[in-house]
Amino acid sequence: MHVPVMLAECLEYLRPAPGKIILDATCGLGGHTLAIAAAGATVIACDRDAESLERAKENTREFAERIRFHQAAFAQIGEVLAAERIKQLDGLLADLGVSRYQLTAAERGFSLMMDGPLDMRMDRGAGPAAADIVNFESEKTIADLLYRLGEERRARKIARAIVRARPFQTTGQLAKLIEQAAPRTHKIHPATQAFMALRRAVNQEPEQLDALLAAIPRVVKSGGRAVVVTFMSLEDRPVKHSFQAMAKSGRAHILTRHVVRPAEQEIRANPASRGAKLRALEVIGEPHGNSSSERL
Ligand SMILES: C[S@@+](CC[C@H](N)C(=O)[O-])C[C@H]1O[C@@H](n2cnc3c(N)ncnc32)[C@H](O)[C@@H]1O
Repeated sequence: MHVPVMLAECLEYLRPAPGKIILDATCGLGGHTLAIAAAGATVIACDRDAESLERAKENTREFAERIRFHQAAFAQIGEVLAAERIKQLDGLLADLGVSRYQLTAAERGFSLMMDGPLDMRMDRGAGPAAADIVNFESEKTIADLLYRLGEERRARKIARAIVRARPFQTTGQLAKLIEQAAPRTHKIHPATQAFMALRRAVNQEPEQLDALLAAIPRVVKSGGRAVVVTFMSLEDRPVKHSFQAMAKSGRAHILTRHVVRPAEQEIRANPASRGAKLRALEVIGEPHGNSSSERL
């Protein structure tokens, strides 16, 4: 079973208890959902990946009566609450990125260590896949997204090589081309940042994160809490800035004055947790113009 990252810290800030309703926006394999339900809360468990949700259902069967699953992206949280007839939440959790299942399923195309189709869609039923970007977008578009979404400094060089060598069918072909065009400069595989950038583009991750952060003061009730775990500074930065803006406008009280990182012990037991950063806030006040008829 997948080991949920910073679980103790997530629970400490979310304070799940009987009668509380907590939305897990990134249910994945259900690690955090399971622990929140075990503490007695009701969980609205969302993920845009239908296959992950199927696995999560299996993993959390013990508490099935307290968990409601929805295949939904961050931008659809309002619709999920409307469908559940819930006005506001006691807590919201987001543990960003991809799950171990997604990374280790070669056919999903997320991993540069395993050969698979160039897919990378978290929701396999929606939108263009990574192959559509690398095989059809212009060199400039590819260079821009590698730089912007992956902080890849060799973006132009890699984009030029991609456009010359395409079409690509598999992650292996693309990883090899990048390795030849822009050889290794540090320990990590030379295609790591390009793969991350492609994944973020395919899944519109920056836009989704913005939608999630914007929804927090609307969907979490006054006194309720939001916890966000990120794995890269490109994701932590917008979380930090959005939390600061909410605090400044009087809509939130930041609970983590400094970003919280996993304890040494957790990193030793689960090296994948190494880069995790957690931020938490408590919502205060009501949304502007709140009334019983306010839409979610
Ligand atoms: C790091 S995993 C979560 C693991 C989970 N907390 C657990 O303990 O099993 C992140 C999950 O978030 C999902 N995800 C990422 N971005 C999303 C978005 N914009 N909307 C919905 N789900 C998203 C991914 O499909 C993935 O399953």
